[in-house]
Amino acid sequence: MGPWPNDPLGPSARASADIYWIMFVAAVIVLAIVDGGLLYAGIRFRERPGHVARQFHGHNLLELVWTVVPTIMVISFSVLSFQKLQIINATSTNAEMTIDVEGRQWAWSFSYPKEDRFKLNDGSYLVTGGQLDIPVGTKVRIKLTSPDVIHSFWVPNLGGKKDVVPGRPTETWIEADKPGTYKGQCYEFCGTGHANMLITVVVHPKEEYAAWAQTAVAAANQAANPATKAGRETFLAQACAGCHTVQGTPAQGKVGPDLSRIASQTTPIAGVLSPVNEENLKKWISNPPAVKPGTIMPKLNLTDQQINDIVQWLLTLK
Ligand code: CUA
Repeated sequence: MGPWPNDPLGPSARASADIYWIMFVAAVIVLAIVDGGLLYAGIRFRERPGHVARQFHGHNLLELVWTVVPTIMVISFSVLSFQKLQIINATSTNAEMTIDVEGRQWAWSFSYPKEDRFKLNDGSYLVTGGQLDIPVGTKVRIKLTSPDVIHSFWVPNLGGKKDVVPGRPTETWIEADKPGTYKGQCYEFCGTGHANMLITVVVHPKEEYAAWAQTAVAAANQAANPATKAGRETFLAQACAGCHTVQGTPAQGKVGPDLSRIASQTTPIAGVLSPVNEENLKKWISNPPAVKPGTIMPKLNLTDQQINDIVQWLLTLK
């Protein structure tokens, strides 16, 4: 996948790329004419032995040209931008699917439509973190909210680059021409975790999307299991999620080890935590520096209940 202006892979990105190239080429032509003329005149008419630089005062035709041409160009660009923005901003026209996207410090979460195919056992609907899965050739309306600071949703090859503003819902849309994995990024500096606020869009062939939804719902049901639900929620609400990644959740931190499969890991976690069992995990979480002097994971002052909940959940991550 190339840079988006060369490789727009959906209608919204294509609208941006079209206008990008038209303006880029026009700007290069203007640059060549203006700077070329400047260089030519500077060399051709300069004062030198046997040649006196002549002073000119006004040139009606020239002044008319450099007033009229830029005026026409600016008007054309305005009309063109307006037309392309009509496409880019038409978020609800013919949208086949709507995803509620929340950007927060520092993770994305994607809430799928309230349809049976996304329904969990507890009556709620599928929510995923970090990765958005959509069917190919489908216009997906993206509704954006933020509970903290301004973020920006952008998946360059598909579209977007829309600010996510606290207290003011915004929206954009994406559509992919072909299946694949598309990378995106929060495009508004939002704090220390900004650079890691990545977006992955996985585009499935239409006939495979239902199967994906089934798998994702099954995984979410497992995660919502009452025995481990409290731990998962505590983990996501506390500082843990800012530093650790757990695939399939909004926790996408990169500072600490990835815990997606911690329960089946055989090499010592952080060099010291082995084997992964209830006792060792509890000892570690209640006071990491006591187990490993110099570790950057601080003592979090969690209650015994919170520690127990988190450990019960971690032990299910295989
Ligand atoms: Cu969120 Cu930058």
